[in-house]
Amino acid sequence: MTLPGVLLLDAASPDAGALATAAAARGHQVHAATTAASYADYGPELKRLLAGRVVTAFTRPGRALDEVAAYARQHDVGAVLTVNEYLTELAAHLCAELGVPGNDPGRARTARDKAAMAEAFTAARVHAPHTVLARDDAELRTALADPRVGFPCVIKPLSAAGSAGVTVVTAPGGATEAADTARSAAGMYSRGGDPRVLVQAYAAGTEYSVESLTQGSATTHLAVTRKQVTGGAKRVETGHSLPVFLPPAVEAAVYREVEAAIGAAGIRNGASHTEVIVGGDGRCVVIEIGARLAAGQIGVLIQHSLGIDVWAALLDVALGHPPAITPTARGYATVRFVTSPHAGRLVSLRGFPRTGPGVPFVRWRAAIGGLVHEPDANGHRLGAFVVTGTEAAEVEERADALLRGIRVEVDPHPNPRPAPDSLTRANR
Ligand SMILES: Nc1ncnc2c1ncn2[C@@H]1O[C@H](COP(=O)(O)OP(=O)(O)OP(=O)(O)O)[C@@H](O)[C@H]1O
Ligand SMILES: [Mg+2]
Repeated sequence: MTLPGVLLLDAASPDAGALATAAAARGHQVHAATTAASYADYGPELKRLLAGRVVTAFTRPGRALDEVAAYARQHDVGAVLTVNEYLTELAAHLCAELGVPGNDPGRARTARDKAAMAEAFTAARVHAPHTVLARDDAELRTALADPRVGFPCVIKPLSAAGSAGVTVVTAPGGATEAADTARSAAGMYSRGGDPRVLVQAYAAGTEYSVESLTQGSATTHLAVTRKQVTGGAKRVETGHSLPVFLPPAVEAAVYREVEAAIGAAGIRNGASHTEVIVGGDGRCVVIEIGARLAAGQIGVLIQHSLGIDVWAALLDVALGHPPAITPTARGYATVRFVTSPHAGRLVSLRGFPRTGPGVPFVRWRAAIGGLVHEPDANGHRLGAFVVTGTEAAEVEERADALLRGIRVEVDPHPNPRPAPDSLTRANR
């Protein structure tokens, strides 16, 4: 019997590579829908593993849908998956078009457009921070004057990700600049130019995400993840730890909100990643939902702590088979992200961990000699490593110790000799 083909929408990330490897290991032909630029970044192993590819332009979703669907029909594709935040809507439409298990295409925008998400959450009575849409300065002033918003508030783009363009604003003075920052944070495949921004009430508390898998509209929560997030105006996720066991009443409240959010986003067959903030009183608000597996190595954490092969499970759900998601281990895992102390040129890196016992995954992304940013979005993180073990406290201590041992040297003045023109200006 020939197995159905598996199509990945963009296969550039390590998680997509893991999915492709899992599918190929099971004997599926693996295909990728990609852009010319993204394909150039695929490593040799991934290129060897792919049975074929269709190059399309994700900037034009209508055309991409037609081109990828035509390709999928020619190649007997029976499962469509993506771990790319920006392609979850296209994935839902493709699944519907091809008649394979996927999410509700009529609601798939909800997980990609935070204005649509806020509306859907209100309609489904999901507890979420009060959110106002502002198109220009006058609407921004009105939003800031809304007592349901107040200060601090959060100004964010509609459809970016990775915390890009998100600012926590503490006083009216910072709002215009924050709105401009949000407007300039274009998504991966968007052309930008959307004047709308979201102004949202600030939710105080501890940030968690819930990693879930839904099949036939029935949801299983694989894990609750605690986030380490920087404070201040720009929030960057610097660590994730799981599994976290919340007090039963809090867990029940969190799951209730998450399940309502999953329903609102039309997630019927696939993974989801729901970000929540739990206040000191145990009340939970949903910050956002993604119709995909969590990024930031959370799949690796689930695999190593709970013994669940998330990639195999995702594949099973996409094929319409029952997934194996009962934990086979009772461990604990955490990831730490390395950031630059300030902007400049990366001079050297010392002490970055290597894989070994209890350190199953490391990834360094920044080139020595390249420019690095002051971290104000997840994309500015330089590297990551995962620590696993049986005791939560030990795992956290080891991860912190490893992080302290890393030396990142950054030259804050990458051009020591200013150009003559700037010298003249400086002397004026
Ligand atoms: N209403 C809020 N109250 C408190 N903190 C918030 C709020 N909205 C966002 N944040 C903080 O800003 C971060 C980024 O916001 P958000 O998750 O909406 O953006 P994003 O770009 O979709 O993020 P990502 O793709 O990294 O999940 C959150 O993880 C949280 O720390
Ligand atoms: Mg988020």
